[in-house]
Amino acid sequence: MNITLTQKYQFSAAHRLHSDFLNADQNIQLYEKCNNWNGHGHDYTLYVSVKGQPHPLTGMIIPLEQFDSIVKKTLDKLDYKHLDKEVDIFKDDISTSENIIQFLWKSLEKDLKNVELFHLKLWETNNNYFELGGEH
Ligand code: NI
Repeated sequence: MNITLTQKYQFSAAHRLHSDFLNADQNIQLYEKCNNWNGHGHDYTLYVSVKGQPHPLTGMIIPLEQFDSIVKKTLDKLDYKHLDKEVDIFKDDISTSENIIQFLWKSLEKDLKNVELFHLKLWETNNNYFELGGEH
């Protein structure tokens, strides 16, 4: 029987929303203060849900320590970074939460063994979150 496990994580990062396909005025119109030249920061909260069957010897779908270290490896790529300047993919892709959650998914999926990445929920502010996977 499949069980879902969700752990909550936090990371902080800076970024600036800017599209090279738009001119300066259009960027300000679209992204407003998020287009601020010097960027701004977020304290992101991430819920990571994995799905699997309890191992007969441990009774767990994945040891929490192992889960944490896999997620931490991915979050270390973003934590306390300026996303657009320090994370290769966001030198091309705009560092919206839509793109960040896809980055997180691809990175986590690569490292998780024996459990399936089921759902991600990424809180950008206290007022908004983005979801990928699961049954939403
Ligand atoms: Ni922002």
